[in-house]
Amino acid sequence: AAATDLESLAAIQSAYEHCEIRKGARNFVFADGNPEARVMILGEAPGRDEDREGRPFVGRAGQLLDRMFAAIGLARTAHHADEALYITNVMPWRPPQNRDPDPAEIAMMLPFVTRHVDFVNPDIIVLMGNTPCAAALGKRGILRLRGNWTEAFGRPAMPMTHPAYLLRNPAAKREAWADLLEIKARLKR
Ligand code: URA
Repeated sequence: AAATDLESLAAIQSAYEHCEIRKGARNFVFADGNPEARVMILGEAPGRDEDREGRPFVGRAGQLLDRMFAAIGLARTAHHADEALYITNVMPWRPPQNRDPDPAEIAMMLPFVTRHVDFVNPDIIVLMGNTPCAAALGKRGILRLRGNWTEAFGRPAMPMTHPAYLLRNPAAKREAWADLLEIKARLKR
């Protein structure tokens, strides 16, 4: 609650000592992209590459994520809000062995995520995988949730299968493409 902007939120969250996962992580991974973006992506947690670089979605899954959103004209490097992306994760630290964060760990980060969303104030949130659905909707089962508009943090939200899942199951890319087109259409409205 003491945070007044993204910078102070990052400082306060990185200094938060009550999450066990922090101890095993090399870097605090806050966000990437343009805070003016209309679309905010909420992922799960940093992996090895992200932990090394201190930036979200920079490994193989991240490269696929960039290509997916480029296909609907959005990029984390874009300056104009209409073409921009803002990217963060539920967990700012890499869990040991990339295990899924447990419900208590997710609950612990939720106030930070909520504040993060409020500061960015996006028009659309993309819930990328099960962890952000658990955090924002209190629901799991991404394969059922994906493709259906829902509400998260008081905003329209689209659950999508995680790009890491798409790398293992290329046949699911067809549905992910449909979800991307939904997002594109909603941005135009
Ligand atoms: N997977 C995620 O959910 N987030 C990242 O930052 C990298 C991989």
